[in-house]
Amino acid sequence: MKITIIGGGYVGLVTGACFADIGHGVTIIDVDPIKVGMVNEKKAPIFEPGLEPILARTTGKNLHASLSFDSITSSDLTFICVGTPPNDDGSANLSYIESASRSIGTALQNATGFHVVVVKSTVPPGTTETVVLPAVLSSAHKTEDEIGFAMNPEFLREGRAIEDFRQPDRIVIGSNQPYAGDRVAEVYQKFSAPVVRTGLAAAEMIKYTSNAFLATKISFSNEIGNVCKELGIDVNEVMKGVGLDQRIGQQFLNAGAGFGGSCFPKDVSSLAMLAGRAGIDPKILRAVLEVNEYQPYRLVALLEKKAGNLSGKRIAVLGLAFKDNTDDVRDSRAIPVIQELLKKGARVVAFDPMAGPNMKKIFPGIDYAGSAGEALKGADGCLVMTEWPEFGRIDKEFELMAHRIVIEGRRILTWNGAEGICW
Ligand code: UDX
Repeated sequence: MKITIIGGGYVGLVTGACFADIGHGVTIIDVDPIKVGMVNEKKAPIFEPGLEPILARTTGKNLHASLSFDSITSSDLTFICVGTPPNDDGSANLSYIESASRSIGTALQNATGFHVVVVKSTVPPGTTETVVLPAVLSSAHKTEDEIGFAMNPEFLREGRAIEDFRQPDRIVIGSNQPYAGDRVAEVYQKFSAPVVRTGLAAAEMIKYTSNAFLATKISFSNEIGNVCKELGIDVNEVMKGVGLDQRIGQQFLNAGAGFGGSCFPKDVSSLAMLAGRAGIDPKILRAVLEVNEYQPYRLVALLEKKAGNLSGKRIAVLGLAFKDNTDDVRDSRAIPVIQELLKKGARVVAFDPMAGPNMKKIFPGIDYAGSAGEALKGADGCLVMTEWPEFGRIDKEFELMAHRIVIEGRRILTWNGAEGICW
């Protein structure tokens, strides 16, 4: 099928590349000429394992990137994959969705044949029906008989997005009319995952609910972890025993410094806002966010308890990315930790295998080390913030510290001198 993707960000790139890899003809549209140029040169503008080999196979053949909206006119479907960043009040900013919808509509004025506009961006329930649909139809001067609408959320984890795309647990397709949904289902014909067909708003709500539930699992584990620590119980042993209950499941029960990234914090806040507007007090969602905000301060408090007043002390922060295998620092738990350390007068020296340059944009004034050993040399304390597998191999480097006080926010070290945030 001929597919246009609006937005060459993380979701658009992975989706476009993977669609091309299974044989569809794909054009990725982005406003950034650097990004477009890179894709057309088979280079991935983001770090995502497995993406570049796909670009190498498909770019110039059935995958192209472009600054112009022309390809929409001759496409069967257009996927909207633009960002929905949070507004100051936590609600989702839909301005990119609106302008993409108007551009699609304008490009469809001269189109013949049935076209389906598919929203893949995470949007509040009701957005496809009340924002995208009217904007596209009025700009195109067409009716729902000529243009169909669908909502097809993504469930891609950064760092494992290609694998998640190829082996999804389910494919959710919401549509305003069965035929529009059938066309989207055709795109995924080669997949064996169950397909869940719904209305537009239910598909939007499935995405929010999935992320909110996973975030709840993490905050729940963190609260239990905090209690376990006070009672001298290893939360890891507890969660192993709990997670084997198939009704609970073993994943996302790792207690630690809390969740970060571009999705969980923003989506839970947005859902809480939505609940409030609907007249429902989102008690559980508020607690999920509250526990998540608290964990970084708990980590610094544990360090202070052992190291005393942090003023003037050299503190190594190992791990800046919001999780391993990415250079993404959005809402990383290392951010409030560094802020708190600086507030207490500590001298921070940070190290991350990949995310140093991105964190430097947020904290240009702290020191950045080229290795874990360099960060630890002469340090009075250390906080481990990211579950990078290579941190599991740090051992002798801890001997370089002036005072070996190490608190782990992620359970990753094999060195046995560290104390965990929840263990
Ligand atoms: C998430 C969802 O998993 C994905 O389905 C959705 O489409 C986008 O958001 P992502 O943000 O890439 O993906 O990261 P994920 O692997 O889910 O981890 C999110 C955060 O939770 C990380 O900071 C991670 O360290 C933390 N986490 C995860 C825990 O603290 N404990 C866990 O048990 C699991």
